[in-house]
Amino acid sequence: MSEAHRLCALAEIEEGQARGFEFGHRSVIAVARDGNLYTYVNWCPHLGIGLNFFPDEFLDQERQFLMCANHGALFEIETGECVSGPCQGEALLPVPHQIREGDIWVTLVEPPT
Ligand code: FES
Repeated sequence: MSEAHRLCALAEIEEGQARGFEFGHRSVIAVARDGNLYTYVNWCPHLGIGLNFFPDEFLDQERQFLMCANHGALFEIETGECVSGPCQGEALLPVPHQIREGDIWVTLVEPPT
């Protein structure tokens, strides 16, 4: 089912910031970078679990990559591709999003089981 869900206002995600949003058992990461917004399923392709240990903590120390806290995989913010770590060459699952009247809406994606 491809129902749209509102994440938040676009203005609530600051440049260079990542935030997480829960929808039941599903979780979405939103990152703002260089004026663009990227949204992914909070699901690491290494073990099929969430990336973060703490709320909204998805970036590495230099804030250049999305990072999985479990084993340190690094993912390019723009593509979701894993460039370092145990799932190198795999990628985060993109979540389609739209901006409507200043709000971010996503179509939830089920990760593989
Ligand atoms: S679960 Fe993400 S790197 Fe291992």
